[in-house]
Amino acid sequence: MTTPETLAVAIMAAGKGTRMKSERTPKVLHTLAGRSMVMHVLHTAFALKPENVQLIVGHEAQQVRDHVAKLASPDMLERLGWVEQLEQLGTGHAVQQVLPPLKDFKGHLAVLNGDVPLLSPETLQDLWQRHLDGRHVATLLTTRLNDPTGYGRIVKNAFGRFLAIREHKECTPEELQINEVNSGIYLFDWTHLARLLPKLTNHNAKGEYYLTDILEMLIQEGQIVGVHCMEDPREVLGINSRRELAEVEGILRTRIRDHWMMSGVTMRQPETISIDVEVEIAVDAEILPNCQLEGRTRVGAWSKIGPNTRLQDAVIGDYCEITMSVVNQAQVGDGVTVGPFAHLRPDTVLADKAKVGNFVELKNTRLGEGAKASHLSYLGDAEIGAGSNIGAGTITCNYDGAHKHKTVMAEGVFVGSNSTLVAPLELGREAYVAAGSVITDAVPAGSLGLGRARQTNKDGWVEKKKPRK
Ligand code: UD1
Ligand code: CA
Repeated sequence: MTTPETLAVAIMAAGKGTRMKSERTPKVLHTLAGRSMVMHVLHTAFALKPENVQLIVGHEAQQVRDHVAKLASPDMLERLGWVEQLEQLGTGHAVQQVLPPLKDFKGHLAVLNGDVPLLSPETLQDLWQRHLDGRHVATLLTTRLNDPTGYGRIVKNAFGRFLAIREHKECTPEELQINEVNSGIYLFDWTHLARLLPKLTNHNAKGEYYLTDILEMLIQEGQIVGVHCMEDPREVLGINSRRELAEVEGILRTRIRDHWMMSGVTMRQPETISIDVEVEIAVDAEILPNCQLEGRTRVGAWSKIGPNTRLQDAVIGDYCEITMSVVNQAQVGDGVTVGPFAHLRPDTVLADKAKVGNFVELKNTRLGEGAKASHLSYLGDAEIGAGSNIGAGTITCNYDGAHKHKTVMAEGVFVGSNSTLVAPLELGREAYVAAGSVITDAVPAGSLGLGRARQTNKDGWVEKKKPRK
């Protein structure tokens, strides 16, 4: 009877990642380009539309579960099974844990390493196709590395026939010279894998149950095992240390930048620009040196970002200029200029053609169309009408030590320089605030609010002050 062409996926993500030297972050939660290793692998797994995905968790299991439950789509969660490996006794032991949930499963199982995050859906799809076409019982993805240290080596006979995977620690000096390595990515006919998993032993250098031993068992039975060697090793590099994390993240960042440049985005000194996986950038946007585009940031067409700008979950419209600034969870309309040295904090909205200049901080504030805050201001919990002008040094006093209060300005308000607006406060349409005021009461539409002591001049004062000769 032939095995149905049904696919399930198991992702091994239970290990502690000792070599990461992390106090509390399990290895698979370390991030590359704004996405954790485990989420990278899950995205790849789900791209193949498997019947189900079994996530094997163990070390800090709850932390990993909470993370995935928060970030995975409802669609993913529906087909995701959680498998707990209470003790981490090796990759073979990890996969043994899916025996109960896959008891009635008929088909093929893709086994993915949780610490090999750059594997693309295309490569996995290709491996799955080769596995089916060749009617293999197992298919193994390998690559060649200049420095294969730490990886399992692909041992072949004199005729180039695959014999076994030998873990680094088990290799003879000759085997250590082999540079073809196991990527940790496999496809198995589930019936055969399920039959052999209970037979694994831990009689080896690490005292672990190695999944890799299954391949040798299959060969000894005379089963067909396919080996597919990837020419470009970059996709299947494993991450065991922070150094490797940085190296693999660098590869991913280059890939992301290339993608956007090929889509019509200009980048100046691209090697200094970092862009997270979920960022989207419109055609003809221009990114200047030293920018970080993070999270779910969106940049509109013809906008110029940078230099030295950090956008975190920011939405930037078309024709904007954001210079040397930090924009965090804020939304910016079209034709807006921000910076240099501005700080837009969460829930800030800048309407079209608004302007925010140097040393201006906005938090939970809406700046209406064409409104300007050009210099040295803090605007928090404020609503500022279209066409208003906020003078240099304006401060909203939004916090009384216990509660936050709102400042509401209608359209066309003019706030003179160095004014203090004590919230809660309302300024009517086209109201004026005299420079240097402390405003504690509403200013009606069309009125001038003056909130400062009247100036007095003392005639001849300077002369009188002078010491008598
Ligand atoms: C493994 C392979 C090696 C391969 C390399 C590729 C084995 C025995 N060796 O070695 O041939 O070249 O990956 O990157 O499989 N894990 C569990 N439970 C455990 C142990 C590990 O879930 O009990 C998970 C880890 O979290 C990790 C993955 O399995 O995501 C691989 O484990 P790791 O210890 O990193 O294996 P390597 O030594 O890299
Ligand atoms: Ca590894």
